[in-house]
Amino acid sequence: MAPFNSSLTLFAFLAGMSLSIFPAVTAFPAHASLGGLSERELDKIIPTLNAVLPGKVPPPLKFNGTKLVYDKAHPWQPLRPGDIRGVCPGLNTLASHGYLPRNGIATPAQIIAAVQEGFNMEPETATFVTYAAFLVDGNPVTDLLSIGGKTKGTGLDPDSEEASVAGLNTHAVFEGDSSMTRADAFFGDNHSFNQTLFDQFVDYSNRYGGGYYNLTVAAKLRAQLIKQSIATNPKFEFTSPRFFTAYAESTFPINFFVDGRNPVRALSMTNATLFFRDSKFPKDFWRAAAPIGPKGIQHIPEEYPIKAGRNANGVNTYTADPTSADFSSLCLLYTNFVNQTVKSLYPNPKGILRRNLIINLRNFYPGVPGGTANCPEIFPYGKL
Ligand code: HEM
Ligand SMILES: *[C@@H]1O[C@H](CO)[C@@H](O)[C@H](O)[C@H]1NC(C)=O
Ligand SMILES: *[C@@H]1O[C@H](CO)[C@@H](O)[C@H](O)[C@H]1NC(C)=O
Ligand SMILES: *[C@@H]1O[C@H](CO)[C@@H](O)[C@H](O)[C@H]1NC(C)=O
Ligand SMILES: *[C@@H]1O[C@H](CO)[C@@H](O)[C@H](O)[C@H]1NC(C)=O
Ligand SMILES: *[C@@H]1O[C@H](CO)[C@@H](O)[C@H](O)[C@H]1NC(C)=O
Ligand SMILES: *[C@@H]1O[C@H](CO)[C@@H](O)[C@H](O)[C@H]1NC(C)=O
Repeated sequence: MAPFNSSLTLFAFLAGMSLSIFPAVTAFPAHASLGGLSERELDKIIPTLNAVLPGKVPPPLKFNGTKLVYDKAHPWQPLRPGDIRGVCPGLNTLASHGYLPRNGIATPAQIIAAVQEGFNMEPETATFVTYAAFLVDGNPVTDLLSIGGKTKGTGLDPDSEEASVAGLNTHAVFEGDSSMTRADAFFGDNHSFNQTLFDQFVDYSNRYGGGYYNLTVAAKLRAQLIKQSIATNPKFEFTSPRFFTAYAESTFPINFFVDGRNPVRALSMTNATLFFRDSKFPKDFWRAAAPIGPKGIQHIPEEYPIKAGRNANGVNTYTADPTSADFSSLCLLYTNFVNQTVKSLYPNPKGILRRNLIINLRNFYPGVPGGTANCPEIFPYGKL
């Protein structure tokens, strides 16, 4: 009995000690990103998490035409305390209608299934965007991602709090500057709906689209947003991958928020308000008529062609960065993302973390924009 008792005592002592030294390790949220944490932090946190195998990538839709998606099974519901919403009006809307878990925490597989079912997003685009976001902002051990902003109460030591920000707002990596309805991070709140910016969206739609957001408006507004950020945001960052997501997202309101039965691809301001501000489908909303991605993206930069780059030294010092991928180097978008972005967040993963990163990178690869044909897969963490 004695050894048992004393080891129990020792266990209780150690448990008490670890609680007092690392008061909140056990409170590390399952959906908080592990990217950028030190090896010491990872060693403390990972054993407290429920490690799972990443879920399988959902197949393309069996029926891929338009259909009613604001149906009886998917009522809109207001937020409950603790529900998370963030930068993406598409994902916010899917969560508020129950296509995604209403609390705003989901697996990559759930996100890919939901954007296909709810909006008819094409599989390649869904795959690329989801795994890119997940690799940066998600938790590869628990397979969970928050669609929202910062998660409080990570309980790590103060010097690592920045690194434990969860959700889709890791600045300049996925969340980025010159959004249509969210302010640049430099100005503080980079994830909430910003009425001033939305007023500009409406103004441009009135001036160039007869009250509707169409491809002409999209190009004019994108040009304005870039010029605005160059002139006012000393830290304006517009390199890959943000360089691509900004142009792609300019097409999304047209491709996804306009009813699939409507051949005129133009979004009314009433309906734009529902999606962007209220995370809500318009009454009787039907998804896109066929699987679609950033269709029309090549027209967006025509209004104000600019190379990928940043304000190098304060406002109005925009300088091209030749190392960034651009529209002529889509494979570089993939290789830089894997070799630099992901590698810098996870320099030396071990065990389950390494296994799950390898699986997620494999899932990500088929989404390479422009196709995989001339873009060999890379394996920064080896193979399983
Ligand atoms: C497939 C998974 C998706 C992920 C991970 C994702 C993530 C994001 C993120 C991180 C942003 C913020 C970028 C920024 O402006 O800083 C964003 C913006 C946006 N997303 Fe999504 N998104 C996804 C799918 C969709 C879908 C299906 C739609 C439309 C139905 C959509 C519509 C938009 C729009 C319109 C914006 C621009 C918001 C603005 O500039 O104010 N997204 N998304
Ligand atoms: C939509 O489904 C049909 C029938 O299964 C298929 O032939 C077609 O390729 C699909 N379209 C796209 C764009 O995936
Ligand atoms: C909204 O965005 C504008 C323009 O970027 C910014 O000046 C303003 O501070 C933002 N408002 C809020 C409430 O964040
Ligand atoms: C983005 O906004 C959140 C919430 O306002 C803030 O905590 C975070 O620091 C911002 N990110 C950056 C890079 O400024
Ligand atoms: C957008 O709407 C305006 C006003 O109706 C129209 O002049 C313009 O041609 C439209 N653009 C596209 C791409 O349809
Ligand atoms: C708003 O969306 C609904 C549902 O898709 C559609 O029936 C309606 O015509 C749209 N409203 C306007 C003003 O375009
Ligand atoms: C990725 O990084 C590895 C290791 O640094 C390097 O050997 C490889 O050439 C890089 N691949 C690409 C395509 O840049």
